Amino acid sequence: MWKGRFQEQTAELLQTFSESISFDWRLWRHDIEGSIAHSAALERAGLITKEERTSIVDGLRAIGAEIEAGTFQFKIELEDIHMNIESELTRRIGAAGAKLHTARSRNDQVATDIRLYLRDECDSIARGIRDLQSALVELAEREQDVIIPGYTHLQRAQPVSFAHHLLAYVEMLERDRGRISDTRKRMNILPLGSGAIAGSTILLDREFVAAQLGFDSVTQNSMDAVSDRDFAVELLAALALVATHLSRLSEDVILWASSEFKFIHISDAYTTGSSLMPQKKNPDVAELTRGKTGRVYGNLMSLLTTLKGLPMTYNRDMQEDKEPVFDSVDTIKNSLAVFTGMMRGVKANRTACASAVADPMLLATDLADYLVNRGVPFRHAHELVGKAVALCTQRGCDLPQIPLADYQAISPEYQADLFDCFDLSKAMAARKAIGAPSPANVSSQLVRWKSALS
Ligand code: ARG
Repeated sequence: MWKGRFQEQTAELLQTFSESISFDWRLWRHDIEGSIAHSAALERAGLITKEERTSIVDGLRAIGAEIEAGTFQFKIELEDIHMNIESELTRRIGAAGAKLHTARSRNDQVATDIRLYLRDECDSIARGIRDLQSALVELAEREQDVIIPGYTHLQRAQPVSFAHHLLAYVEMLERDRGRISDTRKRMNILPLGSGAIAGSTILLDREFVAAQLGFDSVTQNSMDAVSDRDFAVELLAALALVATHLSRLSEDVILWASSEFKFIHISDAYTTGSSLMPQKKNPDVAELTRGKTGRVYGNLMSLLTTLKGLPMTYNRDMQEDKEPVFDSVDTIKNSLAVFTGMMRGVKANRTACASAVADPMLLATDLADYLVNRGVPFRHAHELVGKAVALCTQRGCDLPQIPLADYQAISPEYQADLFDCFDLSKAMAARKAIGAPSPANVSSQLVRWKSALS
């Protein structure tokens, strides 16, 4: 590639050290797409003939078909995907191939390829997120009437519906989709035409190229264009947050599937056994997904650190952007797909959920609200219920078992109808503020999500 200037061969050790073809080969489709658009601009500018352009396009397509079929021979001495394709094209079609790199550098080429590649991956990840959201909504709908304890500090707090809990994750995933679509917008700007650093003295119609490739606009500063990897960092950050959400959901699934909670059954197809303990059925999908969060966070930190302190403009360091990006994209896509499969087969264990949610302490706050409705200031009501709870602890009983007389000894505001507070279905129906889990609210949320995700 640089044979004019150099007298000695590249050391073999350096070849292995500096090659990226072993991982950037997967940019081939986007590299060819970019080159085809670039060749159209070359023809438009009169730099190649219509025939030359045809032979470039046909040649690139033939190479693409071979790569797709797995028959193309990549060469490590050609470093990267850009040189592998271009050099093979020139070997096949001659002079026209050698004209392809006019007014282009690998610096603006790789910046273009990676944007094209990640743009597609954004769409595919957004679809993966939507599929998981749909699986969660379907599960919520199947188990719509199941009530479970809601937890804060992993201590029983207040009753919620299982569906409401699942829909919390649908909300988180919706923000993830939003972040990915925002990232895609900022990514969808064409850097090609920025050359190595300062554009080119040969004028090509960049806006024409952008339109060919479906970019919304063209970059406005050639130096920024070749050294910018913000879009990759943004995507890695958005994926790190997807990983956070998946790992929190994993943790809930693991707890729910444990013998202590028993809130759900996971289908055999998505669990594994133990080689030693015959009784085991392990939630490996959730554990692996939770575990993979580490590498997804690591990839973000890795790219940020690679970029930190790089002087303008392109530096070879930037080749290190690819592996973390590919790894996060693959990891999140795979985790989403397998998690979706698992959630589709989850069933609530209605008996275990009913027995857990029968704990009347979950309704202690409702009892305080009862006193508030009778005019007691909330802080005071809290204390009066606290006293009843203390009595329960003393006697080893639950709130509904305290006789009315003992309640009234705590406060005359307690009346016989206080016991209505312990009716779980009334308690759920009363939670009807926007965003709260009354059955009516949950069912309208299910309707909303089904239409939003369809
Ligand atoms: N393989 C390189 C990368 O991924 C392509 C750009 C190389 N540019 C250069 N001037 N060495 O960053």
